[in-house]
Amino acid sequence: MKIVCIGAGYVGGPTMAMIAYKCPEIQVVVVDINQARIDAWNQLDGCELPIYEPGLEEVVQAARGRNLFFSSDTHKHVAEGDIIFVSVNTPTKTRGVGAGKAADLTYWEGAARMIASVSTTSKIVVEKSTVPVKTAEAIEKVLRRNCADPNVQFEILSNPEFLAEGTAIEDLTVPDRVLIGGKETESGQRALAVLKSVYQHWVPDERILCTNLWSAELSKLTANAMLAQRISSVNTISALCEATGADVQQVAHSIGTDSRIGPKFLNASVGFGGSCFQKDILNLVYICEGVGLKQVADYWQSVVSINDYQKQRFVERIIEAMFNTISGKKIAVLGFAFKKDTGDTRETPAIDVCKGLTQDGAKLVIYDPKVTEAQIHQDLATPKFEWDHPQSSGTKSPRSSAITVVEDAYEACEGAHGITILTEWDEFKKLDFEKIYASMMKPAFVFDGRNILDHAKLREIGYIVYALGKPLDPFLKRG
Ligand code: UDX
Ligand code: UDX
Ligand code: ADP
Repeated sequence: MKIVCIGAGYVGGPTMAMIAYKCPEIQVVVVDINQARIDAWNQLDGCELPIYEPGLEEVVQAARGRNLFFSSDTHKHVAEGDIIFVSVNTPTKTRGVGAGKAADLTYWEGAARMIASVSTTSKIVVEKSTVPVKTAEAIEKVLRRNCADPNVQFEILSNPEFLAEGTAIEDLTVPDRVLIGGKETESGQRALAVLKSVYQHWVPDERILCTNLWSAELSKLTANAMLAQRISSVNTISALCEATGADVQQVAHSIGTDSRIGPKFLNASVGFGGSCFQKDILNLVYICEGVGLKQVADYWQSVVSINDYQKQRFVERIIEAMFNTISGKKIAVLGFAFKKDTGDTRETPAIDVCKGLTQDGAKLVIYDPKVTEAQIHQDLATPKFEWDHPQSSGTKSPRSSAITVVEDAYEACEGAHGITILTEWDEFKKLDFEKIYASMMKPAFVFDGRNILDHAKLREIGYIVYALGKPLDPFLKRG
């Protein structure tokens, strides 16, 4: 059996590496039109892979060259494949009908047309990247109408990926579940069984869920929407805690002990980020509007609106605390990635917070252990929703002189009026805050957007501390 995956990104790369690792007798080839990305995946020892993911390097090294290959020869490999995973980017549309909400399926359609044009044998085509419900139907039409050989059959499956970044290898090794959706026809069920047999190499049967195509597609959008909804819900409560003197961590712990609610994913934060949550919810909203379910659309839209509100609220707290003027003040930004243990900045809350602070005239000095200077400048110069459209990356604005990126947290804080924590990196907890205090302007502020620091200790040192959803320092109280 030969498996080919189109798209060597955050999903395609690690997922295929795991399949190859667990199924030595299956040949797995990951193809991408981006030659630089393929070259990076093929780097030999000591060089960094294109994405940072704990444990990924070991898995890649064990399988690469054995039964795992990365190539830019998309046509050759797709022609030879039995199962073709499609894991290309599905950005939010930036123009035209549905701009700012609908999924842009340009890359998906391009991949489907390519599959059809090179296929001389029947194939199972697997949707791996998140797509709107009923995409399989459209893709099937593209495949059927563009393949010259009438004997070639395409069976479409939906096999959404639930891995989270930073824990991708763990999530792939011991998944909560693997979901496979297929048509309820005989050939659909046969295809489903073939894909199931791949996962059965390491995933117990009871964790492989089989549904119809539409349920699988909708389950992915719903899972992300429900997870994001939990964060927005707890974030609304964080605002209420600040107004009443309750502590959001105590509230989250208390409600999390109810087994119906559960303890996970209840950390109040400066906002959720990542390539999926916002995009998938907006997509869900667009689909609901399309079928006339306005109230349902409004309900899910509010999850995104609250996320924007939380980021804005954080910026306003900073400005207000600093005597309503941050113009010309130096603010250290610790953390830029959308969460710890990843170098990924897609939709990171840091982008909106940094833009909000610079709009008010602040000078930012940014440090993140895994995000490059070039990436930060690019993110802060890219308009909303444009990041996932590679073709528009040539139209970048110039670097802002208000942004400096450094390679050390102490350097970032030196001479600063305030420190903001935007990503929960473990190394920030271990910083010597006495030493930092001595190097800062006074009063020295800390704005902890992830609640990872020891706030009592910081107050003892002399900092004025704002912690999300916690009782406010008297200094920060309004009026
Ligand atoms: C998410 C889903 O978890 C995963 O199943 C799906 O396949 C892809 O989207 P990911 O975006 O990698 O994964 O990260 P996740 O851990 O879900 O975090 C998303 C965002 O929510 C991050 O910005 C994180 O900081 C934030 N978050 C998470 C909180 O603010 N509070 C929490 O309690 C949990
Ligand atoms: C609820 C809380 O569960 C309980 O902790 C609190 O102390 C009082 O309020 P109760 O109102 O007795 O308890 O019933 P509950 O089982 O929570 O159901 C509430 C409503 O939600 C019912 O109408 C039930 O039919 C409905 N429900 C519950 C659903 O529609 N779907 C569900 O999955 C669960
Ligand atoms: P994800 O997070 O879903 O994995 P990424 O943006 O990280 O998304 O990866 C998607 C990859 O798909 C990119 O590397 C892009 O170059 C690749 N890609 C997009 N369209 C095609 C195509 N038609 N053929 C091959 N690769 C493609």
